[in-house]
Amino acid sequence: MTDAQTAPGGAAGAPPRVFSGIQPSGGLTLGNYLGALKRFVEMQDSGVETLYCLVDLHAITVWQDPAKLRHATRELAAGFIAAGIDPARSILFNQSQVSAHAELGWVLNCVARMGWLGRMTQFKDKAGRNRENASVGLFAYPCLMAADVMVYHTTHVPVGEDQKQHLELAREIALKFNHDYEVDFFPVVEPVIEGAATRVMSLRDGTKKMSKSDASDMSRINLTDDADTISLKIRKARTDSEPLPDNLAALSERPEARNLVNIYAALSDQTPEAVVAQFAGQGFGSFKPALAELAVSVLAPINDEINRLMGDVGEIDRILGAGAARADAIARPILEQTYDIVGMVRAR
Ligand code: AMP
Ligand code: TRP
Repeated sequence: MTDAQTAPGGAAGAPPRVFSGIQPSGGLTLGNYLGALKRFVEMQDSGVETLYCLVDLHAITVWQDPAKLRHATRELAAGFIAAGIDPARSILFNQSQVSAHAELGWVLNCVARMGWLGRMTQFKDKAGRNRENASVGLFAYPCLMAADVMVYHTTHVPVGEDQKQHLELAREIALKFNHDYEVDFFPVVEPVIEGAATRVMSLRDGTKKMSKSDASDMSRINLTDDADTISLKIRKARTDSEPLPDNLAALSERPEARNLVNIYAALSDQTPEAVVAQFAGQGFGSFKPALAELAVSVLAPINDEINRLMGDVGEIDRILGAGAARADAIARPILEQTYDIVGMVRAR
């Protein structure tokens, strides 16, 4: 047995560890908050070790204006903290400060197969028609994402529905690595896709995901929107003219109505069933103001806190630096063991 195989922290009996990431490629949306951030806070509060990463290396798979990227990274850090991530309890950091991510990413580029990556729907969507012109990084994106989770021997990854395929690929990569090198080293991660809002839809089109990259700002609620803007966007959200029914099944053909019910449920920590029971028979003329009031009551304090934190970017940079040092202390030994397993000569 190599040193690596006998070292602690192998796949068998790995302790639970939570990792997730968000790209600093624009502001946070209500979709990020309900599908990801709010659940990151719940996991932090459940007592397991939690690592949350601002994945700046992923962001540059499509070109980013450097000044805007730096601003978005700090604002995203502020968003995490404002939403309830405590940098003393969770490890909060940006990806590029922990070089083990990129290093393991390279090793995993050599494990994953071209065919696996070519099937990724996010690549197909983002590359569009002109695939030949997409960056190599955009194609290899899922290998870096697999490295993000594997370099900590992560067991659980909370994400929204859209990341399911990437995490299935991360599982394939871990299994292939363990198989090819005849080790039981990398745990096979579990995606955690839970809650009423794993897929928050656009306010303009109930069949499209709410996204920070949508051309229309009216399609999304940003965590930096003020109370008036939030109310306006909800008032103008596309709906139909029917009142709300008393059961969810009756909403199956009404995606916009279903989306607003899901948002209400997730914001108020109720099930969508409870929400339709409460509003049965009422039209959007009364449901929308109730939703706007709820959204403002949850999001306005977060918005205020983001603004306050952004008044001292030095403090944000210090928090990210301290988080990176803690992350590095976990990742580096796992990377060293990986290098040992694949046959790299290392100084001892
Ligand atoms: P991204 O902004 O693409 O880096 O996504 C960061 C996290 O937010 C991931 O876990 C996504 O699955 C989640 N997320 C993004 N948009 C939505 C949405 N519209 N509904 C639910 N979750 C979302
Ligand atoms: N690909 C994810 C997204 O766009 C972000 C991400 C990068 C991530 N690395 C990760 C999410 C690791 C979970 C775990 O949303």
